[in-house]
Amino acid sequence: MTDLRIAAVGDIHLGEDARGHYRKRLEGIEERADVLMLAGDLTRHGTLAEGRLVADEFRDLPLPVVAVLGNHDYHSNLQDEIAGELRDAGVIVLDDDGVVVQCGETKLGVVGGKGFGGGFAGKCASEFGEPEIKDFVRHTRLIAEAWQVALKEVQADHRVVLSHYSPVKETLEGEPLEIYPFLGSYLLAEAVDTAGADLILHGHAHKGSEKGMTPGGIRVRNVALPVIGRAYVVYCLAMNGEHEG
Ligand SMILES: [Fe+2]
Ligand SMILES: [Fe+2]
Repeated sequence: MTDLRIAAVGDIHLGEDARGHYRKRLEGIEERADVLMLAGDLTRHGTLAEGRLVADEFRDLPLPVVAVLGNHDYHSNLQDEIAGELRDAGVIVLDDDGVVVQCGETKLGVVGGKGFGGGFAGKCASEFGEPEIKDFVRHTRLIAEAWQVALKEVQADHRVVLSHYSPVKETLEGEPLEIYPFLGSYLLAEAVDTAGADLILHGHAHKGSEKGMTPGGIRVRNVALPVIGRAYVVYCLAMNGEHEG
């Protein structure tokens, strides 16, 4: 087993005017990273044309690419078609499930999906009252339960969770407090803390902060493009802990 270099970015929001631009910024990525993770909001409005453009930007890269979709990618109700375009381009798209990626000698388990909101412990919605509120919170709870199951099933040297929504509020710092419940949910962190993982990556909070931690001590990183300010950031998972490059 060797150290593993994980490149990550979210919220690239590619529109139809962006053809070829992102691809250029990925040149030589295989020298700097073993795997690339995309944390959702890959499109602006979730149109099929935008989905195809994103697929072309990441098509057949010389390293494994794992992605989840974000809320923008759901906007036109074409999320399945967009995921299909990405898969045809060789991208692994997670939908509340897991995959094991072989990176050299190292097996990397990646579990995740879009995630959802609801808020954070003490300041959150609960499954109480109107059916619409119950549905909202139940959606997040079912996602969290699926991740917990997938994390327990995955057999790997490292386990990383890839999400669009945030599991903690630390990485939202900079966003208005009023919108925290729409940016993530503590239920996601609770599930990952229960099952265990080495790192959680998310996006969605464009004005948030890069670094946080779950109550159980798992590192959380907000890799939204406006937060990291570059084409991708690389995290290194060492067998004795994480360091960042
Ligand atoms: Fe976004
Ligand atoms: Fe988003």
